[in-house]
Amino acid sequence: MFKTNVCHLISILMKSYVVLISVVAALGGLLFGFDTAVISGTINFIQPYFGLSEVGLGWTVSSLLFGCVIGVFIAGKAGDRYGRKKVLMLAALLFFLSAVGTASSHALIYFLIARVMGGLAVGVASILSPMYIAELAPAKYRGTLVSLNQLAIVVGILVAFFSNYLLLDTGENNWRWMFLVMAAPAVLLFFSLFLVPESPRWLVARRQNDEALRILIKTSGKELAHAELKEIEATLKNQEESTYRDLLTPKIKPLLFIGIILAVFQQITGINTIMYYAPKIFASVGQSNDSALLQTIAIGGTNLIFTLVAMVLIDRFGRKLLILFGSAGMTLMLTGLSVLFFMKETSGVLVLVFILGYIAFFAASLGPALWVVATELFPNRLRSKGMSIAIVALWVSCSIVTIAFPVMLEKLSGGITFLVFAFICLASLLYVWRYVPETKGKTLEELEKEFSREL
Ligand code: BGC
Repeated sequence: MFKTNVCHLISILMKSYVVLISVVAALGGLLFGFDTAVISGTINFIQPYFGLSEVGLGWTVSSLLFGCVIGVFIAGKAGDRYGRKKVLMLAALLFFLSAVGTASSHALIYFLIARVMGGLAVGVASILSPMYIAELAPAKYRGTLVSLNQLAIVVGILVAFFSNYLLLDTGENNWRWMFLVMAAPAVLLFFSLFLVPESPRWLVARRQNDEALRILIKTSGKELAHAELKEIEATLKNQEESTYRDLLTPKIKPLLFIGIILAVFQQITGINTIMYYAPKIFASVGQSNDSALLQTIAIGGTNLIFTLVAMVLIDRFGRKLLILFGSAGMTLMLTGLSVLFFMKETSGVLVLVFILGYIAFFAASLGPALWVVATELFPNRLRSKGMSIAIVALWVSCSIVTIAFPVMLEKLSGGITFLVFAFICLASLLYVWRYVPETKGKTLEELEKEFSREL
């Protein structure tokens, strides 16, 4: 009896330790969400302040994305060389400098430099946070724990919208406060990283096996830890330092391809047309801007709730089933939205229902599942680099969709635009069904073995 209780207690403590690690890492996701969303509420103020034309504004807004792409590359290399934790600390520092820099800029050039710095940090966090969680999580809960990062992204977006709203009436410097808010979670991320260990998989690659074992005992328990360490050692034995070129070997290339295509699908199925342009969509069916806050709450709330649903389901039903189901739902919702536009249906409520349905299906599937699968596809020695290429593809697709959407809406009409996105969702469904392997429940090393056999 006593022994069972003690075992139970140890298992709870282990779980809470892993959850603590995941929550700390997910703060990177929160800052990612916040930094990408905060700009929307500041546009009306920074445009006149810096005297920006429409084109200038476009460049100013997308300067973050430019930083992201570079940040992802830096993380791919530096994550291997200096460890996941140290590079995440660097990201926290960059988030902080970006917050203070944007908030205190009096000239456009400083503002742009600070935004690019924020982009670098977003790029780094977008791969290192989920990857670090995946490398520390026990296989059984890996899906849920990595999805915590997506939950944090969604919360970050919501926090940005709310804090922008609350700070709106703080005078002519309101936009400075809006940017400065980010300094708080950045400081929190920096200091809380001192509480968590380095990734055991990275430590083994650096031949620090004793330290790796010590951490594995804390995360997986004594019995499993030795076996896990052996497996990690086996995947890294006799391996030289990896290069980007290794991603093109016949065994890895198909995995890289899956990672890239999935990341591109996560973006070109249109999520950020809604996240960034919801008010524009409502305006195009004749709805006024008064209910903008309400729409934002409805969209953000739905996103949050269904991400939680995904977290419960992802380790039970698997990543693949979730994405298939989600893509099917997204196809239906976008088709419905397109029909409303063709029928010139101006009921804001109906439009909102289809938009919320679409968000719900995304949040319960492709939203978190892409990040989970991206951390699971690549072998230990190439994870950082493989993931960085896939996520660069994500950021590039994100910017293309973001730039193309307003033009599509104007030139093609809402009906055709949403039909195009509905077709892309259908394509995503077919692709995932045919090519994406299921990864739930297995250790990263088991997956590595399986993929090298199959491909
Ligand atoms: C995507 C972001 C998107 C967010 C919305 C993330 O998984 O990568 O582009 O804005 O989900 O919840």
